[in-house]
Amino acid sequence: MSDALRVRVWRGGEDGRFEAFEVPRRESQTVLDVVTYIQRTLDPTLAYRFACRVGMCGSCAMTVNGRPRWTCRTHVDRVAEGGEVEIAPLRNLPVVRDLVADMSEFFDKWAKAKGQFAPTRTRADGFAVVKPDSRERREADAGIECIGCGVCYSACDVVTWNRDYLGPAALNRAWTLVNDSRDGGQAARLAAVSGDAGCHSCHTHMSCTEHCPKQISPTRSIAGLKRATLRIALGGEEP
Ligand code: SF4
Ligand code: SF4
Ligand code: FES
Repeated sequence: MSDALRVRVWRGGEDGRFEAFEVPRRESQTVLDVVTYIQRTLDPTLAYRFACRVGMCGSCAMTVNGRPRWTCRTHVDRVAEGGEVEIAPLRNLPVVRDLVADMSEFFDKWAKAKGQFAPTRTRADGFAVVKPDSRERREADAGIECIGCGVCYSACDVVTWNRDYLGPAALNRAWTLVNDSRDGGQAARLAAVSGDAGCHSCHTHMSCTEHCPKQISPTRSIAGLKRATLRIALGGEEP
């Protein structure tokens, strides 16, 4: 293992540039460790974001050597090419500064896709019974572990081409709710995801699915939305 890692880090806003640093190599060093070393030792003005360091919060996602990743779960040994690493903010989002992307439009799209639970029961009602082996429950379970990190959104070329496209994470969230038998917002949700910026814009590239660190398949969820919205368009029932 060589002593120093050469690191190119994005500095500034959209019109910024890469700045070079040298960081000592360590055993089991993550990309987030590298960014933290630079900020604490070499340049305290470097802006970046993290919270949990263990793959739970999703806030540390950045572009590493051109690929969106959780930096806290990415070991330098796995990604360093010729002793070099290039670190930039997530693609497809405005840059606030340095390695910090503005996630507002990402979460606004969750709201546009009606990604909020619409309860049909009150506190006075008993618990809803949802069978663990029902088709709906298994469909919802497949996408429910999303932590909103934005990696899939950053990996999606359709988002690059059409900034109105709701994107893989918001559509995956909508599909988990479509399969939630306790939810009462299906008509509005399916209408929201069937428009020009919705599920039918997905080109099934699978890039979101290939990059998701939680092994979720937004592509599969979007296919479910396509079937459900087509069924309604053809005069059938809501799922
Ligand atoms: S689907 Fe995966 S990659 Fe996309 S936001 Fe959720 S956890 Fe992140
Ligand atoms: S499958 Fe659809 S949502 Fe996923 S990356 Fe491809 S176009 Fe984007
Ligand atoms: S810091 Fe929370 S997922 Fe990386």
